[in-house]
Amino acid sequence: MRKKVVALTMSVLLSLSMVACGSGGTTSDSQDTSAPAADSGASVANKDKPLVWFNRQPSNSSTGELDMTALSFNKDTYYVGFDANQGAELQGTMVRDYIEKNIDTIDRNGDGIIGYVLAIGDIGHNDSIARTRGVRKALGTGVEKDGNINSDPIGTNTDASSKIVQDGSIEVGGKTYVVRELASQEMKNSAGATWDAATAGNAIGTWSSSFGKDIDVVVSNNDGMGMSMFNAWSRDNKVPTFGYDANNDAVAAIAEGYGGTISQHADVQAYLTLRVLRNALDGVDVDTGIGTADEAGNVLSSDVYVYKEDERSYYALNVAVTADNYKDFTDSTKVYEPVSKQLDASSHPTKKVWLNIYNASDNFLSSTYQPLLQNYDDLLNLEVDYIGGDGQTESNITNRLGNPSQYDAFAINMVKTDNAASYTALLNQ
Ligand code: BGC
Ligand code: CA
Repeated sequence: MRKKVVALTMSVLLSLSMVACGSGGTTSDSQDTSAPAADSGASVANKDKPLVWFNRQPSNSSTGELDMTALSFNKDTYYVGFDANQGAELQGTMVRDYIEKNIDTIDRNGDGIIGYVLAIGDIGHNDSIARTRGVRKALGTGVEKDGNINSDPIGTNTDASSKIVQDGSIEVGGKTYVVRELASQEMKNSAGATWDAATAGNAIGTWSSSFGKDIDVVVSNNDGMGMSMFNAWSRDNKVPTFGYDANNDAVAAIAEGYGGTISQHADVQAYLTLRVLRNALDGVDVDTGIGTADEAGNVLSSDVYVYKEDERSYYALNVAVTADNYKDFTDSTKVYEPVSKQLDASSHPTKKVWLNIYNASDNFLSSTYQPLLQNYDDLLNLEVDYIGGDGQTESNITNRLGNPSQYDAFAINMVKTDNAASYTALLNQ
């Protein structure tokens, strides 16, 4: 933990000094308000400064309904994430395809039942809910509730008695197999952190010691938890394990039997996160460098993202990463080439951004998303202060936004999707 804080501070310092070197004379010292380029935006009221929500979409954690008040806080407010439903469907299909292709070997105890366990990230997070539904839908184990597939965890279900899921079936080569969700659990630690990898590692230990021979497939809402289960049990037992995020370690593990993962195009999301702020700060159309090429030639094609104006949201599109193509995904922190060109510092002067990550220990955000942001901040001439939360309490983060006037723009990753007002209240003061 200690080490992490130091490492984070070091990387902030590093990025600060890099900005200082790169922009010839423009100091990045936050104390120095006389610097010509990095003006503090003091004349703009905090409530009118550009704001981007990312990774956790302001929404009701029980119903999923979008929080449009937060999403349209001011005219320069957006959300950047990815298409959760398209990704969830891909993940489910990836698992199903794998089972069908490997039907001769997958049923480890030969009982005609393909048993899987599922690690759930956060029962109140749209992405997590969508992935649980996507897997249950593709495997035929979903049960409808209020017009949608129930995404609740089941605990254990080795005897198929659960009312939350049902047995599905897969037919290959004229033979029908039962598919059963043997167990699922929200991976939340005792302190309240969700998507918790260590909890998932413990869960697979418990599950495998009581019904390990029944487990033919391991599925996880993300790679952090997936890799924890793979390392604790499934690699040694040769049980295919599927995650989400295409983190470097997970992609590398495909060579060792990790079943596959989904890239949520974090390289596109990290760019969009900072680009919408840059455009607002420059006073140009929000589509600049996104759907419309900027003067440096940065542009995204429509096959990697969609923008939904009524939701004020940009969604990156997902890609499945399996044994067939994983070699193209080995570095998840590499900038996306079509948007990798440096902006000119005279027409895009350095601006200061406050950015927080809800949990400094989240595998995806710390090993993939933040390194990408740190690559793009230089290209976009943004001086970003990265704040890492504890994953449990909003105040751990908001306490560190004591002086919003010091920044030109804000990028926020909430602990809980219901809590947007804890941040906007600070900007409204
Ligand atoms: C990622 C998870 C991550 C979560 C944090 C999701 O989009 O897939 O790995 O833990 O975001 O909010
Ligand atoms: Ca079996």
